[in-house]
Amino acid sequence: MIGTDARVLSRVVPAATLAITMLGLSITGGRVSVTYAQATPRQRASSTALPDTFGFGRPATPDAIAKLDIDVMPDGTGLPPGSGTVADGAQTWGRFCRGCHGPEGEGGSAAPLVGHDPSGRPLTVGNHWPYATTLYDYINRAMPRTAPGTLTPDQVYGLAAWILAKNEIIADDAVMNAETLPAVVMPALGRFVPDDRRGGPEVR
Ligand code: HEC
Repeated sequence: MIGTDARVLSRVVPAATLAITMLGLSITGGRVSVTYAQATPRQRASSTALPDTFGFGRPATPDAIAKLDIDVMPDGTGLPPGSGTVADGAQTWGRFCRGCHGPEGEGGSAAPLVGHDPSGRPLTVGNHWPYATTLYDYINRAMPRTAPGTLTPDQVYGLAAWILAKNEIIADDAVMNAETLPAVVMPALGRFVPDDRRGGPEVR
């Protein structure tokens, strides 16, 4: 039993991994369980040198990297081609967002996104977000909560437009795209200061 499993293991676990781990087998109720413990630096030094390659994985292709490289910066760097209107956004909102954030973005089981109370309560996109471009980054990356990454660029631009118009930051006929979204000046911009600390003694 142990012999069989050990043979299977030695096929699936690369030899180099075995060389730097302490492998323990124990039998409980006829089932074999395997435990690993990291080798100490001394044990590792005395083991055989690691090979150049472990023989698995593959190089990351530009396409695979592009799928992960989705961040959008405050100045709009990273925004993709595409565009969306407030009316487009209203449709997408009704399908994918209102169930959690409320029909008018006033909040529901999830946070309110619409509201301009300058006291900052409750915190919303309208009174607390310094950059409009964060809407693209966040929605594209994380929403809808149950299916992030499924919206098209046009849908995300439309949603950003709808949320900004609901907050009375842009006009109802505005179109959002890679040029217009970064040009939106958010009411909360002045509530933040750039963090230009360099990591010296001034950082506490
Ligand atoms: C299944 C519920 C759900 C759905 C559907 C959903 N969201 Fe969210 N959303 C959340 C939750 C949960 C958060 C985290 C904040 C919170 O705890 O409410 C959040 C946060 C956000 C935020 C950041 C709020 C902030 O101020 O931090 C935005 C913007 C947002 N969602 C937009 C959307 C948009 C646009 C859609 C539709 C495409 C959508 N959400 C659909 C649950 C949902």
